[in-house]
Amino acid sequence: MKWNLKDIISINDFSREDIECVLFNAKKMKSLSREKKSKILKNKVVASLFFEPSTRTRLSFETAIQNLGARVVGFADGGVSSQKKGETLSDSISTVENYVDGIVMRHPIEGAARRASEVSLVPIINGGDGANQHPTQTLLDLFTIKEEFNSIDGIKIALVGDLKYGRTVHSLALALNKFKKCKIFFVAPEQLKMPQEIMEKLTNVKVVETENLEEIVPKVDIIYSTRIQKERFPDEIEYNKVKDAYVITPNTIKDAKSSMRIMHPLPRVNELSQELDGTKHALYFKQAGNGIPVREALLKLLLEGKK
Ligand code: CP
Repeated sequence: MKWNLKDIISINDFSREDIECVLFNAKKMKSLSREKKSKILKNKVVASLFFEPSTRTRLSFETAIQNLGARVVGFADGGVSSQKKGETLSDSISTVENYVDGIVMRHPIEGAARRASEVSLVPIINGGDGANQHPTQTLLDLFTIKEEFNSIDGIKIALVGDLKYGRTVHSLALALNKFKKCKIFFVAPEQLKMPQEIMEKLTNVKVVETENLEEIVPKVDIIYSTRIQKERFPDEIEYNKVKDAYVITPNTIKDAKSSMRIMHPLPRVNELSQELDGTKHALYFKQAGNGIPVREALLKLLLEGKK
């Protein structure tokens, strides 16, 4: 499999073959010994620049970097960087690229990762840019689906909750459009529907938009729940109107197929009852765990052999 991408910015930049290449390498990472893994990026340095809060993306990237034998530098809060003194993102990137072999970044502004890739000589990995995209989350979501169902083609999935601001569901819907015979149920209140510009790109999947979750529960293989993202609402009154729109409990899924699995990019607030955690349907913590092999694979594909 040939790898051509210099940066990981948007899932739109991936062909199906590129996605398959990441999943194949992630599978291989799972079976590699710690010792073999630790030689892959030996003597390399990767920057982890998080201008917005994160637990999973930052820690799994930093773990993956160290598992591959590289060192990590960076910050978990833009407030401790020179951004606080007024430095532009472009200037920060043009500086940091001199220190490292690659940059993982999260930023609250849509398009920030693309802008960084335009000025950077070293690979940029987008760990989430505002409400736009979260491509590495999508790759670990696809890896999780493939591990659980053996195939991504033909999957029937309900994307539930904040489809307007949820970057993970934007990237995932666009990725599923690259596979065969998938069906996506978009379940959201009117105010949080999937943006039209994304719906228009979904020409290769069947789509259904509904506000009624219970009605579609028996029909799907996966419920992909998302948090209503308070921090992205311009107005708290609007947030309060929809914050409890979909709270999934054991009763919500009583008519689900036995094989139905629940995914969530996490963190959750109250949209997924903790009563689900011990059930066979809960896949979300295993999904979070898959961040390690998938991010190891991405780092290897982007950085091995460079410099
Ligand atoms: N899924 C995800 O992006 O989680 P974090 O915000 O904790 O990184």
